[in-house]
Amino acid sequence: MPDFVTVSELGDHVGDTVRLRGWVRNHRSSGKILFVILRDGTGEAQVVFARDDLDDRSWEVAEALTYEASAVLEGVVQEDRRAPGGYELSGRRAELVGASPEYPIQPKEHGVDFLLQNRHLWLRSHRQVAIMRVRDEIIMAIRDFFYERGFTLVDTPILTGAIGESAGTLFETEYFDLGPAYLAQTGQLYLEAAAAALGKVYCFGPTFRAEKSRTRRHLAEFWMVEPEVAWLDSDGNMELQEEFVSYIVGRVLERRRDELEQLERDVGKLEAVRPPFDRMSYTDAIAHLKEQGSDIEWGADLGADDETLVAGGRSKPVFIYDYPKEAKAFYMKENPEDPRTVKCNDLIAPEGYGEIIGGSQREDDLERLLARIREEKLPEDAYYWYLDLRRYGTYPHSGFGLGLERTVAWICDLGHLREAIAFPRLMTRLAP
Ligand code: 4AD
Ligand code: MG
Repeated sequence: MPDFVTVSELGDHVGDTVRLRGWVRNHRSSGKILFVILRDGTGEAQVVFARDDLDDRSWEVAEALTYEASAVLEGVVQEDRRAPGGYELSGRRAELVGASPEYPIQPKEHGVDFLLQNRHLWLRSHRQVAIMRVRDEIIMAIRDFFYERGFTLVDTPILTGAIGESAGTLFETEYFDLGPAYLAQTGQLYLEAAAAALGKVYCFGPTFRAEKSRTRRHLAEFWMVEPEVAWLDSDGNMELQEEFVSYIVGRVLERRRDELEQLERDVGKLEAVRPPFDRMSYTDAIAHLKEQGSDIEWGADLGADDETLVAGGRSKPVFIYDYPKEAKAFYMKENPEDPRTVKCNDLIAPEGYGEIIGGSQREDDLERLLARIREEKLPEDAYYWYLDLRRYGTYPHSGFGLGLERTVAWICDLGHLREAIAFPRLMTRLAP
């Protein structure tokens, strides 16, 4: 039996008889010749079967192959400039592994609900494969960025006893005899403990928000990467963010050009993403929005439309910093220059993608932090350990969280977050 090879290895086997295994992407016949395109996860290759080259059994099998059936196809590797990938097989034998009668997804327009219901099959499409490869590259870039800069990965718990962000969007479950536990909205509070041990740390995992909004920017489960850095202030935090985001975009441009092209991404816009990014105070952003006719008032958080307006025609993301205290989470450091505000920033992606990062300097003063916890009516007891970080060797520190799916959506230019993760958790869907 000839060896199994992958499509990506065909170049090393010109003239050899080899076997490919994979799924039928396309199948057409013209009389005594069959053209089968097989994909195997490494690429796609055409196998051309001529009636006279095959025994009866193989011809029957090859002829009966259908879209997305799995098969082993044997043939002689030939160089062919016109073929996608540059190689083609002259078919000799075909063996069916798994039939695929009436594959649900056909090369025609399907509604998005139908595609989501068939997400387990939809993943096989060119577009979804390209998105998953870009996502993978982004994840590798994230890990490399922090590893190269001396950060230590610290994994934080998913079941938590203290609210991380806001009470409004918690998933709750019973935890043995100890009462309610929450699915983590963030790993940040735990990372603040770890940063006092290791200096520069990050976590990267799934986070959960019971968002009752059905927008293209919200998932109930999404991945967030969160660095936390000792002795870093809010300005330094923004510098870290612009370096980080530029590094990620640069890596995708360097290694995933083909996928971006397949997604018809305007790469010119991504090429402009280099430090520094513009910085605008929240107060200036409100003035700017009012000039453009918005009825937003100082004190309100920016909505999706406001963010799009603020980003304007930029190609690079833009920072909005020092938001009003009431618009943000309890742990942010009060701004000594304007105590109505906190030392924080959002990073707004261009092209209407909105907030991809939320970050801040953390409140390191015990009394002020306690006052904020009480103001927000959070259960003080649950935060005993978090408050201890201010009791024993408190230290200035900052960090941020970057939403992975929002970043994937922006870089791939997707209309909705549901395509940025293999199995999206949406308010109205739990299957597949
Ligand atoms: O702004 P957020 O809520 O910040 C935090 O959770 C902080 N604890 C981070 C930190 O300082 N360590 O969320 C951070 C990012 C957002 O900017 C957004 O990109 C993403 O997480 N995000 C969501 N992505 C998808 N679906 C949702 N429901 C999201 N909520 C937030
Ligand atoms: Mg935010």
